[in-house]
Amino acid sequence: SWSMTSFVDEKIKEIKEIVGDKKVICAMSGGVDSSVAAVLVHKAIGNQLTCIFVDHGLLRKDEAKQVYETFTEKFGMNLIMVDAKERFLGKLKGVTDPESKRKIIGEEFIRVFEDEERKLEGVKFLVQGTIYPDVVESGSGASAVIKSHHNVGGLPEDLEFELIEPLRELFKDEVREVGRQLGLPEEVVSRQPFPGPGLAIRVLGEITEEKLELVRETDFILRDEIKKAGLDKAIWQYFTVLPDIKSVGVMGDERTYSHAIVIRAVESIDGMTSEWYRIPYEVLGTISRRIVNEVKGINRVVYDITSKPPATIEWE
Ligand code: XMP
Repeated sequence: SWSMTSFVDEKIKEIKEIVGDKKVICAMSGGVDSSVAAVLVHKAIGNQLTCIFVDHGLLRKDEAKQVYETFTEKFGMNLIMVDAKERFLGKLKGVTDPESKRKIIGEEFIRVFEDEERKLEGVKFLVQGTIYPDVVESGSGASAVIKSHHNVGGLPEDLEFELIEPLRELFKDEVREVGRQLGLPEEVVSRQPFPGPGLAIRVLGEITEEKLELVRETDFILRDEIKKAGLDKAIWQYFTVLPDIKSVGVMGDERTYSHAIVIRAVESIDGMTSEWYRIPYEVLGTISRRIVNEVKGINRVVYDITSKPPATIEWE
């Protein structure tokens, strides 16, 4: 729309003036806010901006690859992909408590980011994808009491940078609109929410690479079938969860004893409350069949039919 066009033009002008000839960095998560912020800043100052994407090994299938392709190939941005999988999995070994997982991931993210930032030298500004609801919520968020909601984009204030937060006045819908204006693909702009700690809070209990793989593969099938059914815009958030449960099954003449996987799909406005989404039985049937056929190690699929409250959207 017209007002968004002038917003983009004004911000570009403002960012140019503030930055001058200095260097700028951005912690890119692949999420809507940091993506739009980074592209907007890149429009203003080009390759004075370097983005850093930390791959903590807790991402969805092909996610790192998609981020790389979008921002380097399509937008020609400087993007450093940091493969920190071993680092994160090492720190998470043996950890089962949800809040400890969040804390470890949040802290490790900052360390990895600092290590990369130090290599660049002379960086003056940091881009953050803070949006208006973040500004209002910070400090008083009731949800913070229930879950600490570590967002891996959230860096501590004692880093010696000046902040550039071009989306501070915008609501989510406006951020998406700006993203479209800037030519970001629809997969990025209308992407469902994804928690900073990623799949770590969808593998209940201890995290292993084998369990992460089960969540990644089942989540991929779920997303594929939801898209094929034309429901990807209708459902606010949908994903799979691996409870640490094995159950008995049968395959051919063999008895199996394998993992169960949970499908979670919700309608919501802001994540504070939610209603479970009624995925049509036919679609559920297809998803279930594909999962047990294609994902070795899963012999049972269950559907979470709880609203929030009393359940939360994520299981941890
Ligand atoms: P819950 O599980 O609290 O989730 O009902 C509400 C929304 O927040 C997301 N979520 C997180 N996002 N870091 C994040 O950045 C977190 O630690 C975190 N925990 C939950 C969740 O995916 C849902 O959209």
